[in-house]
Amino acid sequence: MASEASPILIFGGPYSNLAATEAIERAAQQRNIPPQQIICTGDIIAYCADAAETTSRIQRWGIPVVMGNCEESIAEGAMDCGCGFDEGSACSLLSISWYNYALKQVSDDARQWMGQLPRNIRFTLQGRNFHVIHGGVEQINRFIFADSDASLLEEEMAMTDADVVIGGHCGIPFARRIGERHWLNAGVIGMPANDGTADSWYMLITPGPDAIKVSWHRLSYPAEASQQAMTDAGLNTPYREALASGLWPSVDLLPESQKAVTGQRLELADYLI
Ligand SMILES: [Fe+2]
Repeated sequence: MASEASPILIFGGPYSNLAATEAIERAAQQRNIPPQQIICTGDIIAYCADAAETTSRIQRWGIPVVMGNCEESIAEGAMDCGCGFDEGSACSLLSISWYNYALKQVSDDARQWMGQLPRNIRFTLQGRNFHVIHGGVEQINRFIFADSDASLLEEEMAMTDADVVIGGHCGIPFARRIGERHWLNAGVIGMPANDGTADSWYMLITPGPDAIKVSWHRLSYPAEASQQAMTDAGLNTPYREALASGLWPSVDLLPESQKAVTGQRLELADYLI
């Protein structure tokens, strides 16, 4: 899908955060990356206030989007976001307010559009096969983190013949080598990465003469505008504070090793494939 010299931009989780979505579109324009070389790994809608406008913005931009569990749930008119949070957990309880709010905002046309989004997008770059998904290869809401058990990663990799899988859903960017293959996560733009900074993240995949370079980049945007939108909408949830503090309201779903680095500034070195 990409010309050899030009990067592919991947991002996840706009999460109804319109200011962040506008910022990633500007970042792509500044880097001269056209819409057909951009992929969103899903969850256009979630915690923030602008579900309808964020969806419209992504639709107008015309980029390929992989269906997230939030799109799946909203398209089906499901009772909850389908994130896979444990019942009764803080994440589960917090999701109720934003999900019900978003469900009311989204038009029938947008719901229909969400329902026809692909569950994976494949492309080839320099002879490597890439397979882009939301959560797991077959389970849309599977949480896969940088330090998930190797057996889980191997099990997921066995479901695809791709050299590189790119997932989203978990909210924290990373790369993980599994034998000769690779698992990448671009991170999300609509919420910070629980690293104590308000920035969110996106990923570039850049072809080079000897290798493909994967790099992660901070997205700085006016988070106070997204906070104000939440206040105006009556969405006074802890996610509103998280936009500025860079700390998630709950770390229930994180592996212990990642709970331990809560609030530590995230640094990601370039990764070669
Ligand atoms: Fe998700």
